[in-house]
Amino acid sequence: MPEALQDWVFCREGYKDIRQNSGMIEKILKLKQERNAVILAHNYERPEIQDIADFVGDSLALSIEASLTDADVILFCGVDFMAESAAILSPGKTVLIPDTDAKCPMAAMITGQELIEMKQRHPAAGVVCYVNTSAAVKAESDICCTSANAVEVVESLDCDEIIFVPDKNLARYAARFTEKKIIPWDGYCHTHHQILPYDIMDAKQRHPDAEVLVHPECRPEVIDLADDAYGTEGMVRYVGASHSDEFIIGTESGMLHRLEKEFPSKRFYAVSDYAICPAMKMVTLSEVVRSLENLEYVVAIPGDVQKKAKDALDRMIGVKRRR
Ligand code: 13P
Ligand code: SF4
Repeated sequence: MPEALQDWVFCREGYKDIRQNSGMIEKILKLKQERNAVILAHNYERPEIQDIADFVGDSLALSIEASLTDADVILFCGVDFMAESAAILSPGKTVLIPDTDAKCPMAAMITGQELIEMKQRHPAAGVVCYVNTSAAVKAESDICCTSANAVEVVESLDCDEIIFVPDKNLARYAARFTEKKIIPWDGYCHTHHQILPYDIMDAKQRHPDAEVLVHPECRPEVIDLADDAYGTEGMVRYVGASHSDEFIIGTESGMLHRLEKEFPSKRFYAVSDYAICPAMKMVTLSEVVRSLENLEYVVAIPGDVQKKAKDALDRMIGVKRRR
């Protein structure tokens, strides 16, 4: 069994024991008050991390929450680009990431310089970057998007050609809904890209009554086999509105905890045992305690990059969520 999977099995099966460790949870609550901190967690985080967070959501909701909070400290349980987005949006606040190894591999697939060169090759194109990018890439973009608003963001630009970085799968998904020419970067998310049509067909055979929801970061041929594609918060809304009792979930496995908690009477099946993002499993309760105790690790963005990246994020927040 791969290490990440063992870790995940432990964190799902050992979940009750971890919850009984109220010592750590009490410590976090006390430190949170002392620091006037808010804890934001992504839907893919470990169950016990989601449970101690003040707010759990998708990339878009977390960005908005970070831009609105009154707290002095934002402790971000997610990956690097999410904590960076919070720091970009709230320059006066202390933004902490408990584990600096929690890095999204897809965000590392394009640099600011590579985007500059791509823009030189397509001078008439507008530039949309997925929030899963570095601050330097955001600073070189006209506007950011998430999986929840990619189509609306593409449509919001007044040009016929759009450079779309870094996720080629999200780019191809957005291209289904627009007349504009989408020019993708060749990036992808390992966790979603390794979900294959076979996995969907196999899961459907095992759960013939279940609806199939997949993330737009999946391959087009996987999206074609699903009932629909949604970002993580879109999945929560879809399940809430659906009359079905069973769902096959084609995204990172942490999503199952969010859905099981929100809809205890419905059943959720992971599309495969391997849909795990190791970066999203890095943050632990003890790291949260240490992070709040020592105020580490502070996320800092250079001033010139911060201003330009904030413009791209603010423009995105101005565009309404699609699903
Ligand atoms: P969402 O914005 O749908 O939460 O997705 C973030 C992400 O990293 C997907 O892999
Ligand atoms: Fe990045 Fe994929 Fe992990 Fe999301 S699931 S953080 S896109 S590697």
